[in-house]
Amino acid sequence: MASAQTFTAGRRIVLALTGASGIELGAVALRLLAADARVERIYLLVTEHALRVMQDELGWRPGARSELPARLLDGGPGREKIEAPSNQDIGHALASGSFPHDGMLVLPCSMGTLGAIAHGLSDNLVERAADVCLKERRRLILAPRETPLNLIHLRNLLAAAEAGAVIFPLMPAFYDRAKTPEAIMRQFAARVLAQLELPQKEAFVWGEQAARADN
Ligand SMILES: Cc1cc2nc3c(=O)[nH]c(=O)nc-3n(C[C@H](O)[C@H](O)[C@H](O)COP(=O)(O)O)c2cc1C
Repeated sequence: MASAQTFTAGRRIVLALTGASGIELGAVALRLLAADARVERIYLLVTEHALRVMQDELGWRPGARSELPARLLDGGPGREKIEAPSNQDIGHALASGSFPHDGMLVLPCSMGTLGAIAHGLSDNLVERAADVCLKERRRLILAPRETPLNLIHLRNLLAAAEAGAVIFPLMPAFYDRAKTPEAIMRQFAARVLAQLELPQKEAFVWGEQAARADN
């Protein structure tokens, strides 16, 4: 199973956005990470197909990759913490287990990337960085998004979980009574970041907070 050890003084977190629906959730997680004083460095990986989904879901015209962090942050703080290497840069430090970091989150995780991770393809930096997490027993959180799931998806989810990944499906909770899409996404992002030992102050905790009826 993935180690609970923290490797760096300020956290180094890998965030991968792949070509599944729910790109905005990846952006919400990025904003929380970038604003978090515990986080020193964010490696933002974006697949080619995630760029396409951004066109469809966010209405973005394709632009330079270097513009992505600022666009995703949408004016929020922490741009200087973010490095956004090419997904084709298989020689990046993240491709080696010798480079320490504190975990990787794939949000959203497409069925294509899930399959590649489950079968160790390592054909681009997202797949290779995930493979490194599994072999080094580091936290790897996959937030798959597809519905319904076919047998191949289910088998790949099982294979990834057996190899040590945490499967954190893109399924928001509703018991916190968050009402707006923004509030629902922030609660989801807060829950998933807790998996990287970055608990968020605003996260709803059952039994400790009254349900937020007026969110
Ligand atoms: C607008 C849009 C939405 C998509 N939504 C999903 C999705 O929710 N889940 C999924 O597995 N694939 C989805 N796809 C298909 C993937 O983008 C496609 O399989 C791609 O090859 C995944 O590549 P990647 O894993 O390298 O990003 C979507 C594609 C588009 C254009």
